[in-house]
Amino acid sequence: MSADHASVVPSVTPPLWLLAELTYRCPLQCSYCSNPIDFHRYHQELDTQAWCDVLRQGRGLGAAQLGFSGGEPLIRKDLEVLVEEARSLGFYTNLITSGVGLDVKRVNALSAAGLDHIQISLQAADPDLASALAGSKKAHANKLAMARAVKDAGYPMVLNVVIHRQNIDQIGDIIALCDQLGADEVELANCQYYGWAFLNRRQLMPTRDQLKRAEDETRRWRERLQARGRDMTLHFVVPDYYEKQPKPCMGGWGSIFMTVAPDGAVLPCHSARELPMSFPTVNDLTLHDIWYQSDAFNRFRGTAWMPQRCQQCDQHSVDFAGCRCQAYLLTGDMTDTDPVCEFSPHHAALESMVEDAQVIRVLESGAIPRNVHMARQQTSTKDSE
Ligand code: FES
Repeated sequence: MSADHASVVPSVTPPLWLLAELTYRCPLQCSYCSNPIDFHRYHQELDTQAWCDVLRQGRGLGAAQLGFSGGEPLIRKDLEVLVEEARSLGFYTNLITSGVGLDVKRVNALSAAGLDHIQISLQAADPDLASALAGSKKAHANKLAMARAVKDAGYPMVLNVVIHRQNIDQIGDIIALCDQLGADEVELANCQYYGWAFLNRRQLMPTRDQLKRAEDETRRWRERLQARGRDMTLHFVVPDYYEKQPKPCMGGWGSIFMTVAPDGAVLPCHSARELPMSFPTVNDLTLHDIWYQSDAFNRFRGTAWMPQRCQQCDQHSVDFAGCRCQAYLLTGDMTDTDPVCEFSPHHAALESMVEDAQVIRVLESGAIPRNVHMARQQTSTKDSE
């Protein structure tokens, strides 16, 4: 930490990214899902017109990149209409999907509507493990077929694999599968612990040895691919809990990123619903007023809200004191320093959690699948505490 850094009054610039979480419904049950635990409470979704209005407002506000996600956005029958609207507004559009609900006809319809980019998620290389992780026997084969269909339609094949304790030892096979499929870009994203992933973190956290082997294997694959002249980019996203400096989450709260949840709540990040604060909805206010004037977006802008130790640290304009959601989940105080920071008084507790994950053991319970039944059970347990 260095000497005094005066609190900075934020100057608010327009958002760059708009994430439209069209629905929390999803045919899969991944235990690392970042959706809120109580997603079943938000079953009222914005209709097509309301979403089109959100897109117009978002573009008017200055957002240029638009992600369609969920849940599974393909569940929305009006996805093509929304893509068309986004295209006419001049957004660069990205569909973030499991691939379930996609077929060749729909890939072509989305392409005709003007969709720019598709990212498909895979669970594992081994079909049995993939089925177990997704809670679906058919999903894996469908995902592989759709990855090919996306490429046949002229898109780059972009695959995302959430990496965790249960699939990390297969990382070489996962990369080999992506190579065989003809992927152009592969994101090997170590699990971030929010929502269901936080609930299941003991079952999901890899050991340091697993992580090292996975990084080494990824590096060997990069060398092999390069030697073959194969142009497949491999991104390896390191898990947060193993770091000493927190990530600059969302590029800073209310800086570039705005999420609209299925029911119209407007959030500075996809996990903000877990925080003990309320968020305005598009039914109450315009996106412009929410972005510039709402307490929810202004709360963690600038540095005045930061604990002293962060205000005095020369890294605060780099990491913004870390992630608000992570600070809350790990300390119960959303205004605290993210415990990933080595100067946080909670960093030692995080380190012991990491140490606890170093022993591969059979846990007394398996990971909790993300589905409505478990959501009800989890929330009723929490409500009665
Ligand atoms: Fe919410 Fe980081 S995920 S601030």
